[in-house]
Amino acid sequence: MIEVKNITKTYNTGGEPFEAVKGVSFSVADGEFIAIMGPSGSGKSTLMHILGALDSPTSGSYFLDNKDVSTLSDDQLADIRRDKIGFVFQSFNLLPRTTVIRNVSLPLVYDGVPDKERIIRAEEALFASGLDRIYFSHLSNQLSGGQIQRVAIARALVNNPSLILADEPTGNLDSKTGEIVLNTFQKLNKELGRTIILITHEQEIAEHADRIITIRDGVITSDSKSHKKR
Ligand SMILES: Nc1ncnc2c1ncn2[C@@H]1O[C@H](COP(=O)(O)OP(=O)(O)OP(=O)(O)O)[C@@H](O)[C@H]1O
Ligand SMILES: [Mg+2]
Repeated sequence: MIEVKNITKTYNTGGEPFEAVKGVSFSVADGEFIAIMGPSGSGKSTLMHILGALDSPTSGSYFLDNKDVSTLSDDQLADIRRDKIGFVFQSFNLLPRTTVIRNVSLPLVYDGVPDKERIIRAEEALFASGLDRIYFSHLSNQLSGGQIQRVAIARALVNNPSLILADEPTGNLDSKTGEIVLNTFQKLNKELGRTIILITHEQEIAEHADRIITIRDGVITSDSKSHKKR
């Protein structure tokens, strides 16, 4: 599904150019559940932005479903994101004072999906995320952090993406709620066959994936099977 070869990313903001990713190569098969782990500043989010077609690498190639994504225009990247990718960010980016259902169905508005179908698909995604039905019509600012995180996961699922990218999805949660969210990812992977890339700086969290890629100062230092917590 994913093949990155010798990817680099150089930022040119503020004086000296800074190479945040320094020649990274790996591939991901359909249906894998991978964690990308590394300390703060090691280049995880930078890599996720490239994998998520939010940004292009400075050099190197990125093939997603056999298509070279590294050379596409911004519009073409937007199409790829809409068709194939679901994002869960650490800062949840839900609209406040807006219902859960509306938050989840919003991406479909831009796709021109009719009203009724939007609601049905949003409800399906919310069920998959494990949020209790009673919260579906709550406003997003009336939810706990764990509930908000499930809404964010549902929103990432609603366009039926084959690839889910999650950047520190449990970063703001207590360990018990975090565990529930991680179990949700495991279910999405095992039962619905979604390919998942989970970014974290914690070994304990990374162990929920099947494979762990460790990154340090912009280079991969290890890539191996996890000891799997399930
Ligand atoms: N837009 C940018 N412009 C300039 N430098 C950046 C930019 N984004 C990130 N960096 C730098 O690139 C390096 C990697 O950042 P990145 O956000 O990928 O790290 P990270 O591994 O996700 O860290 P964290 O765990 O803290 O989220 C950091 O040194 C950061 O300061
Ligand atoms: Mg980050």
